Amino acid sequence: MANIFFLQLFVNLLLLCTGVFSDVTFNFENLCSDSIWRASNPSIGDLDPELGPDEFEIYNMDDTWSGSIWARTKCTTNASGYFSCETGDCRLGTPECADTTPNFPVTLLNFNVNQSIVSYQISLIHGQNIQVNIKPVGGTLLDGSGPCPSVTCNMDFGNVCPPSLISYNSNGAYVGCKSACDVFNDGQHCCIMNGCQPDEYTQKFKQQCPTAHIYPADNTPPMYQCKGADSYDVTFCPAIGTAS
Ligand SMILES: *[C@@H]1O[C@H](CO)[C@@H](O)[C@H](O)[C@H]1NC(C)=O
Ligand SMILES: *[C@@H]1O[C@H](CO)[C@@H](O)[C@H](O)[C@H]1NC(C)=O
Repeated sequence: MANIFFLQLFVNLLLLCTGVFSDVTFNFENLCSDSIWRASNPSIGDLDPELGPDEFEIYNMDDTWSGSIWARTKCTTNASGYFSCETGDCRLGTPECADTTPNFPVTLLNFNVNQSIVSYQISLIHGQNIQVNIKPVGGTLLDGSGPCPSVTCNMDFGNVCPPSLISYNSNGAYVGCKSACDVFNDGQHCCIMNGCQPDEYTQKFKQQCPTAHIYPADNTPPMYQCKGADSYDVTFCPAIGTAS
């Protein structure tokens, strides 16, 4: 706890010194048993992206920012100094992602920050590589319908991922589940038309993670718009559920 306190103090001092004022804070927490390497596009500052198990990081967001955040897993640097990750890799060879899109499969956290109004969503459009939860701390929905809900996808898809969608590492171990659209790349699986019905694959994802965004026309739940939350807790590997 002391570390977190000093980190927060340090961040506050930094903000005072730079004169930056931010309405919105993201608190990243890694409850996974391994390190993760945070990445974002456009970059929110990923120079030191590693977050070890049980580590916590406070992030003051710019007043306006719209983009995606994701976690890279099992990253290593090889003998020639090339950095790469088993999932979510940015293909640059460095820990910093610098505005690049990730390799799929990847669980995407989409945000649109505009002062104190924040839209947030977990998207499985490009599959799943990690379990995650987004919890607004306080705040009310912009449409006045109540408090800002958490969204979560805490199911490990390892047990339910169809064999054709499984992503393996070089040792043949499961590392994530791709989306059918990314694998088959056709209109039927990509479901881009309004009113398009989910197929067997997207239905399966939806059963596991009902509050996540699964295919482009998926609007249940809508992307929540939250006003006035103090912070957003983004937790990787929250208590993991068992998929069935
Ligand atoms: C490290 O990885 C890079 C990119 O894949 C590759 O070009 C290079 O040959 C690798 N180095 C070694 C020593 O394996
Ligand atoms: C932010 O919200 C204000 C009004 O609330 C709007 O005028 C402005 O266009 C928004 N900015 C962005 C970047 O969305």
